[in-house]
Amino acid sequence: MCGIVGYVGITPAKDILMEGLAKLEYRGYDSAGIALTDGTDDLQVVHRVGKVAELASVVDSMDLPSCCGIAHTRWATHGRPSEENAHPHRDCNGRIAVVHNGIIENYADLREELKSQGHVFASETDTETVAHLLEQYYEGDLAEAMFKAVDRLQGAYGLAAICADQPDQIVVARKDSPIVVGTDGSASMVASDMVAVMNFTRDVVFLEDGQIAVLSSDGIRYYDAPGHEVHPETTHIDWDEQAAERAGYPDFMLKEIHEQPRVVRDTLAGHLRDGRIVLEDLTLTSEELAAIDRVCIIACGTSYHAGLVARELIEKWARIPTSVEVASEFRYRDPIITSTTLVIAVSQSGETADTLAAVRLAREAGAKVFAVTNCMGSRITRESDGTLYVKANMEISVAATKSFLAQIVCLTLIALFLAQERGRLSEEEIDGLYHELCKTSPQIEKILADTSAIEEAATVLEHAHSAMYVGRGIGATVCNEGALKLKEISYLHAEAYAAGELKHGPIALIDEDVPVVAVVTQSPTREKTISNIEEVLARGAHVIAVATEGDTEITKIAEHVIYIPPIDDSFSAITASVPLQLLARFVAKARGCDVDQPRNLAKSVTVE
Ligand code: F6R
Repeated sequence: MCGIVGYVGITPAKDILMEGLAKLEYRGYDSAGIALTDGTDDLQVVHRVGKVAELASVVDSMDLPSCCGIAHTRWATHGRPSEENAHPHRDCNGRIAVVHNGIIENYADLREELKSQGHVFASETDTETVAHLLEQYYEGDLAEAMFKAVDRLQGAYGLAAICADQPDQIVVARKDSPIVVGTDGSASMVASDMVAVMNFTRDVVFLEDGQIAVLSSDGIRYYDAPGHEVHPETTHIDWDEQAAERAGYPDFMLKEIHEQPRVVRDTLAGHLRDGRIVLEDLTLTSEELAAIDRVCIIACGTSYHAGLVARELIEKWARIPTSVEVASEFRYRDPIITSTTLVIAVSQSGETADTLAAVRLAREAGAKVFAVTNCMGSRITRESDGTLYVKANMEISVAATKSFLAQIVCLTLIALFLAQERGRLSEEEIDGLYHELCKTSPQIEKILADTSAIEEAATVLEHAHSAMYVGRGIGATVCNEGALKLKEISYLHAEAYAAGELKHGPIALIDEDVPVVAVVTQSPTREKTISNIEEVLARGAHVIAVATEGDTEITKIAEHVIYIPPIDDSFSAITASVPLQLLARFVAKARGCDVDQPRNLAKSVTVE
């Protein structure tokens, strides 16, 4: 989604802003722009469609000594990608400029109102409305104007604005769209994502909804919605800076896939003590734990797929009925949630608009909501009753890989914990399962050490137009994620089906041009899946199988076999997902796709 960065200080802002924009590129965008104050009546504003490098090529040759500015990467919502629609947007006189993330829902009414007052619009965007509103309310103090402007806005916004009359100030506001600010005493920065400020400071403030902050070179002042000065808490970010670098890998996706053994270890570390699973952040009393009669997992996309794995495990071990809900649906149906429902909201970014709305709804219904996220200080952590952090570290590739595995590991720990607390698994069983779970980390290392079979299998998919992923049980959940990865980064249509469902319709699609990827690891349903593979073979399909080492029978039927080490079926999602991530990446690379920044996608989906 869109990205915001702003800097005010004592050194020229241009390079700092361009560096910030480059860091935000991973979020997905289609145009970029920058606006700087220069002490005159005008602001210097440049926009370009396309990559940040396009903008940089123009900005680099300009003399821009200003120490205060804002910049933006836009992901089109209102109006196509074009220079006119790129942010920053200006008021009629070009003296106020604003960048915005989110959607102003009542922009059409405001636009009509402002037009009738004589304002002239230059773009099709909802954001430009804010620039004209600020102009309308401006009486010499941009912060005052911001208070009045946000009062008129409906929808979601992270906003940063500058004004030619106050050339050393940035005013920011937020509602339902992340804004992080930080200062080092001689300069201040704002961004929509920590990654853009991490080189500048590690001590940041995550603005709350309704708050307004005024940034200058001597620091930041914070105000609540009624305008009273407030002193929010600072959060120290301990993310590894190198996470934002490719470290010799050709792309972030491959680097992040290779980080997974470490991510699994870190997410597991310290959670088994004296033979018991300890989850201090799952702050439920024993009475509350005993009363839980249902678990409801809410998430979107890849995080939803992690939820599907968790359902298998919670029901199997803890015997608590569990549902997994797509957040965008959950929020608009009339879900049955009570005070005895344990709600787990899974979100890598912690900022997904639909998941946040679902969290609010569940809490209003009286449920306790726990977040599983990777992002410290993200919105979901503040809207939930507790947070369990996965230890993926910053994930730059838009297609989630390491955060997905970390989510599965964290949810597996929750499943074991619930089973333990409900007396469904003995200490010995828990200990055995935990140690089996720990084996997944070295097993992923082994899978990553030789990926030649995966690369070879990718040749089957490279020229296909459509692919089918099939599996059963945990294997079926793995297929959902495998197919999503393929779609996202290689733009190849893929469907995932529980293998038993094939003959109820989708088998009609199968012929020699629709390769089938089958997850057929050692599980109670292996033989059944083999029968389903036979069925697609009979229709001419080329089959790629993900199977367990030692399974020689599979080589007789599958054209390509990708082996993973043997593991308890409960944990096979962790290991079997890795070859499917790599398969999608090999196919995408062969098709010439940008695996880190797939078209139309964004790292954090902060609009509905
Ligand atoms: C796919 C992907 C998305 C996200 C989804 C939810 O690779 O990353 O499907 O999983 O947009 O995002 P979070 O987990 O941030 O709530």
